[in-house]
Amino acid sequence: MRDRISSPGLTRRQFLLRMARYGGGAVLGSMFALDLFAREDRFHLPVSGRAPADKNNRVIILGGGVAGLCAAYELGKLGYHCTILEARSRPGGRNWTIRRGTEETEIGNSRQVCTFDEGQFLNAGPMRIAHHHTTTLGYCRELGIPLTVFSNFNEGAYIVRAGYPKLRIREVLADMSGYTAELLAKVIKRGELDQALTTADREKFIEYLRAEGRLNPQLIYPHSGDNSELTEERGHTRGYTQSPGAVGGLGAPTVPLDLEVLVKAGYASSLDFMKDYNQQPTMLTPVGGMDRIAYGFAEKLGGVIRYNCLVNEIRRTGSGGVRVGYVDGNEGGIARELEGDYCVCALPPNLLRKLPGDFAPATAAALRDAIPSSAGKIGLQFKRRFWEEDDDIYGGSSKTDDPIGQIYYPFDNYGSSGKGVVVGYYHFGEAKGLLDDQVPAVRERLALAQGAKIHPQYPAEFENSFSVAWHRVPHNESPWTLWKDGATFDAAQKILRAADGPFYFTGDWTSDLVGWQAGAFVAAQRTVQAIHARTQAG
Ligand code: ALA
Repeated sequence: MRDRISSPGLTRRQFLLRMARYGGGAVLGSMFALDLFAREDRFHLPVSGRAPADKNNRVIILGGGVAGLCAAYELGKLGYHCTILEARSRPGGRNWTIRRGTEETEIGNSRQVCTFDEGQFLNAGPMRIAHHHTTTLGYCRELGIPLTVFSNFNEGAYIVRAGYPKLRIREVLADMSGYTAELLAKVIKRGELDQALTTADREKFIEYLRAEGRLNPQLIYPHSGDNSELTEERGHTRGYTQSPGAVGGLGAPTVPLDLEVLVKAGYASSLDFMKDYNQQPTMLTPVGGMDRIAYGFAEKLGGVIRYNCLVNEIRRTGSGGVRVGYVDGNEGGIARELEGDYCVCALPPNLLRKLPGDFAPATAAALRDAIPSSAGKIGLQFKRRFWEEDDDIYGGSSKTDDPIGQIYYPFDNYGSSGKGVVVGYYHFGEAKGLLDDQVPAVRERLALAQGAKIHPQYPAEFENSFSVAWHRVPHNESPWTLWKDGATFDAAQKILRAADGPFYFTGDWTSDLVGWQAGAFVAAQRTVQAIHARTQAG
């Protein structure tokens, strides 16, 4: 079934809910009760004490993704001597912005070189920041990274269902709430609701439903599109074929779809992602690309990061420290070793567990429980911003029941007469076989053919593309980590969030915000706290 994500057999909705659940939802009640929630996603770092001057202060960090970068940055502030071993020649890990000249060869696939115009880009990994992800936003502030609005939800965008009319999201929302309100109002009016509402309260509720569903005085959602009793007061939320401004008077409202068609087509199922606490209509993103965050840290860290260094062995030493073996690609692939007092493992768990390492059996078992997943994106550069010029869509995303699932419009350069890169698909594993397991040229062809059903302008305006299938990206091989169920997650976290001798584990996969940078930051801060508390205790 195409709306199931392939690896652990979860639907996209279940995945989102699961992220929400493991992302704090599972323990949300108790977090609020204990007032831990605010602390969990805010700065909560040690403010006192310095790293010991002459011992116990060397920290080796495996992986220069945002968790590794953040750990090094914060430990550095406290006086620790950190070294990040990063396999790539860039910082950020999944925080990866594709621009002109970006090269990538996925595992088992052909090489791509990005040919977007200068200034155009695709955020292949994270692209949006929730307004309550205060760690991420706090670092943007601290590192001086300008933010702009990421329009996540645009009522003017489309929903496409095969065999049914192409609708604007606002039309679906108006019809769904109209019919729902009509049904509920009728039931309440007849006193059929098993509710202890007084007559006065019932009337109040019905008034609310009239406004919510834009019902006429007979409590009917006007199927003809003629709700003129209301339009004078508040306009017609479903939209117009000819707007009042253009033709004067009340304009020509669009006509609602029949309830049966609306439900059969399943339009509303495309909108359930908005129910996730972490998804909001108005989100934030760095101006010029998400990797501004990674480079912001990298600039502060300078020589702390050793690029092109591929870790191949993680050992304990007799004195309780660590010895990490790696291949230094800067010197033609020479084998090297680095010794430290602590090791922060900020690699993806699916790769970490493959390395020869002296982890305790319980740690190794917890790492084995992590389930890598898949997700893919493609950036399509178009020579004209037809979604803005022809369709009046500025940001947000259109949804389709084709395998591409959804497209996201650019959040930069609104209204410019230049080019733009549209995210031509972003799937959570549903299209692993159909898209991600194909060569880039096939992905591009499918993205164009399916996207043209949303925007017939595609073929005439398309220029070039770059696609990313995260399960095939070297050094990640997964977009994010899943767990079999809540009990497995909880058990693994209990182990992974504690030190295993000199080893610490960090990344979004050791946090309550799996699949978000905020999770990586929270986890990194927890690791910094733990190491510092240990050295301060002597
Ligand atoms: N955090 C990821 C997103 O926003 C999953 O799409």
